[in-house]
Amino acid sequence: IDIKNLRSSTEGVITLDPGYKNTGSCESAITFLDGEKGILRYRGYSIEELAEKANFLEVAFLLIFGELPTKEQLEKFHADIKAQSVVDEDVRKIVDAFPKSAHPMGVIASLTSALTAFNPSSVNVNSEEDMYKAIVKILGKFPVLVAWTFRKKNGLPLDYGDKNLGYVENILKMMFKQPNEDYLFNPIVINALDKLLILHADHEQNCSTSTVRIAGSSHVGLFASLSTGISALWGPLHGGANQAVLEMLEAIKEDGGDTEKYMAKAKDKEDPFRLMGFGHRVYKNFDPRAKIIKKAADEILNDLGVEDPILNIAKALEQEALKDPYFVDRKLYPNVDFYSGIIYRAMGIPTDMFTVMFALGRLPGWIAQWREMRLNNEPIGRPRQIYVGETLRSFKTIDKR
Ligand code: ACO
Repeated sequence: IDIKNLRSSTEGVITLDPGYKNTGSCESAITFLDGEKGILRYRGYSIEELAEKANFLEVAFLLIFGELPTKEQLEKFHADIKAQSVVDEDVRKIVDAFPKSAHPMGVIASLTSALTAFNPSSVNVNSEEDMYKAIVKILGKFPVLVAWTFRKKNGLPLDYGDKNLGYVENILKMMFKQPNEDYLFNPIVINALDKLLILHADHEQNCSTSTVRIAGSSHVGLFASLSTGISALWGPLHGGANQAVLEMLEAIKEDGGDTEKYMAKAKDKEDPFRLMGFGHRVYKNFDPRAKIIKKAADEILNDLGVEDPILNIAKALEQEALKDPYFVDRKLYPNVDFYSGIIYRAMGIPTDMFTVMFALGRLPGWIAQWREMRLNNEPIGRPRQIYVGETLRSFKTIDKR
């Protein structure tokens, strides 16, 4: 296919493909995904190997710049991020102005967009150097915004991180440190969060990533583009599914724990209820991330000695769905969100923060995709439509309608 010609052409046949189920929007060298075979690779490395051997920051570097970092490159990258991990003090006033009841995803999307106002130099990105500066800025500041959002909601004082800590350890401490107490690190929790963030780090042209790319294609800055991705991720059919899973499990528990009743509801075409955490747009076999995360979930629950009736309901649904012809025929398997919510709950992260944790993980992927789109000089995204409205009508003044 002559991509260059396709880029400049606006003539010819228009394809109608709602939801873009079969339409490619770009060429990308970042993530390879085979939904039939259940394969996911970042820059050619299998997700299984990365989850086992790499840490989140290494994966972030790999996704954004294309190669695994050397020790020196990783140290410099981390140092550059740490140097940017302060946020303008006036941003605290914005955090304070949100009602406590605000959903953290709404807050974090707004704060990310607000960063543009406090960092005007990151808006006009004309060189790789400008891009690098914007990238380390957001990787430094975003965890601070996440921690502040969480702390404000929980009535805790807002503070900065600890520059002596690893990226993920620092996130945990910034979120959970109580005043006048040392934060006690639990290696099991650090390791589980690191793994979860890696598994979420990119997933090619999903809804939020496509949103980031299309917003960025207008040459709006990185932070504004990311803010659109965060909003897209919030929806319950996308990243919001991890919150929706837990809410569904809670509702089933409150209703007496009858999983069969909810299985029947999910299959009833008259009932809008869907089994949250089941099914995936592209994995029509199994989600390889779900396999890794299921193992991690079993381990963390064991290690932390968590006993939780919600988990028994989750296990029952999983078992019933795996042998139910409705789910088997439609290839509806538990997805990554089914298990991630369970792990976050075991780690003590409140339900409405789950999707924010997903955004933390997806940040490098969005950045990598935005950078690739800009370096490829992609044209502005502008889908076509098939018009199905009225033909030409003449205007009637209001007294004649
Ligand atoms: N429960 C019950 N039935 C379902 C479910 C579900 N979770 N998911 C799909 N189906 C059914 C549909 O009703 C449809 O049935 P039909 O063929 O009889 O009409 C069939 O399976 C195909 O479903 P589609 O919606 O066409 O599948 P699509 O690929 O468009 O949607 C999606 C994928 C949005 C993930 C869907 O499976 C869903 O809503 N799942 C629940 C939400 C969820 O877990 N989202 C997280 C996605 S993963 C992520 O964002 C990281």
